[in-house]
Amino acid sequence: MNPPPRSARPRTTLTLCLALLGCTSARAVPASAPAVAPAPASSMLSADHAASFAHFAVASDHPQASLAGAEILAAGGTAADAAAATMLALGVASPASSGLGGGGFALYYRASDHSVTFLDFRESAPAAMTATLLTPLQMGPPPRDGGVAPAARSTGPSIGVPGEPRGIEELLRRFGTIGLARVVEPAARLADEGFTPSEHLAGLSQRFVGALRHDPLGQTWVPDGADGIRANAPLRNPALARTLRAFGANGAQIFYEGALAEEIVRAAAGVGGVLTAADLRAYRVAQRAPLEGNRYGHRWVTAPPESAGGYTMLASLALMERWVPGGNARPAEADVLHALAESWRGPFLDRARYFGDPDFVSVPLDALFAPARVAARAAVFDAAHARPSMAYDLPLPERAAGAPAAVPLGTGTSHICVVDAAGNVASVTTTINIPFGAGVSVAGFWLNDELDDFTSAPSPNSPASPLPTSALNQAAPGRRPVSTMTPTIVFAGNDPVLVIGGSGGTRIVTSVTQAAWRAVVLDTPVGEAVAFPRIHQAAAPDVLSAEPATAEAVVAELRARGHQTDALRGGAIVQAIRIVRAGGAVHLEAASDPRKGGRPAGR
Ligand code: GLY
Repeated sequence: MNPPPRSARPRTTLTLCLALLGCTSARAVPASAPAVAPAPASSMLSADHAASFAHFAVASDHPQASLAGAEILAAGGTAADAAAATMLALGVASPASSGLGGGGFALYYRASDHSVTFLDFRESAPAAMTATLLTPLQMGPPPRDGGVAPAARSTGPSIGVPGEPRGIEELLRRFGTIGLARVVEPAARLADEGFTPSEHLAGLSQRFVGALRHDPLGQTWVPDGADGIRANAPLRNPALARTLRAFGANGAQIFYEGALAEEIVRAAAGVGGVLTAADLRAYRVAQRAPLEGNRYGHRWVTAPPESAGGYTMLASLALMERWVPGGNARPAEADVLHALAESWRGPFLDRARYFGDPDFVSVPLDALFAPARVAARAAVFDAAHARPSMAYDLPLPERAAGAPAAVPLGTGTSHICVVDAAGNVASVTTTINIPFGAGVSVAGFWLNDELDDFTSAPSPNSPASPLPTSALNQAAPGRRPVSTMTPTIVFAGNDPVLVIGGSGGTRIVTSVTQAAWRAVVLDTPVGEAVAFPRIHQAAAPDVLSAEPATAEAVVAELRARGHQTDALRGGAIVQAIRIVRAGGAVHLEAASDPRKGGRPAGR
């Protein structure tokens, strides 16, 4: 890749080339390296969850999906082409998390003009949606392990208009070079010839086996007598292979008009959905200005509303840089986790009170980020004691106070990072919401249940939550629900230095913030930053959840400061690529989260 003129913090050592198949050795190559020569695709897959590459890299949460993206890059595609190929391959190999029946956000950096574009292809509510239609689905407390309570299992009304096909088409129209027919091919092959179910997918299939048994596609994967999908035993999805090739030949239109669109409407109606052919025809991708802020000497560019993820991360980091400034002195781990946990309380309250679809409600970002307000919130911090969440609550005087809404916990989703040989960068988060979405498949893909991300009215989402609901994120025709997805690119000057994002409901933003903070502020190699044990704390309930691998002494120290703790299971999954420039050379440190068994691929 061509080196941009300015250099990020120089790094003198390469740390992550771990017994790799096909990745570079620990040697930075000249940036003027000749065009990449072809090589067998499988040789591009890292043997471990982290690897270093000289030319291009893809990090996703399934090895075969990372390889699909790398194949397209090796064939001369851009980061947009590769991100699309990876998304489609994830829909095949990781079908519980994302696919053509869902939607997402794409953040794209184009090296030739240093532009950053944000495409919103999230699912939207049908015209027949009402605020009360979803209420019966959202009763009952989400389990603390991140699962979904049986009573909250979604059916038809939570199916939103899928945005993924139009999102892929738009990404390629703006930034692709290789053509949709070529982009779909790795995923179509995988669906035809067989994909390898991960341990993660096998585990999800056991939890959702009831839903799978009710669906014809699910039945082929979980025949009578089986308790779920078997890890590592290849599975095929010929219907999806056909759908992908039809997409490649005809474009996204086939999902929004005609026979396939009618099939989607019928399948949704079969489970009580209110989606119509007119809703599908009306779907549009939205381009929004990305959200950005300077934190710790870097420019962080991330998702704007209707995601609350970007705001929560930037608001948290604005506090963190006051409480745990960067520099050479390495802070104690308990100090870092205490500060992180405290930093999320206020932003989660803001999210619950002020966030909604920006095409329908005004999200007061300027007022929320006002320096005096950030300073007032920073002053609440006590380095020795946890404060109650409401101590960080700062209602905006110009808005009716209103009560903050409950934030659904959520789970599922997938994140992809790509850097191509020309220096273009894609950070894409894609989802069908909870595992296997609405539990209904069409033409080989699962329909989403994304509208569960609306707050319900009038009953609280969770009896365990002290936060009642509010109006801004209520379901209404055409609206897109508030998300936590946080696709992010961090810059040093004009140069991208870190691509990052994650999956896992509200834990997306706490996990992405932690991993990015370690990579940027402590200069931790991304493989370590992504794997490091994580915590989660939102405004409510007032519990700090820590992954079991967190050092016992650190958890004890957090308890001594007044945090009520429990075990964090089923946490988020983070992917990242660091772009390292040193001595006129560039290399890419790529990491897939070992929690889901992903591996990066590249050259
Ligand atoms: N459904 C997960 C999210 O949008 O945050």
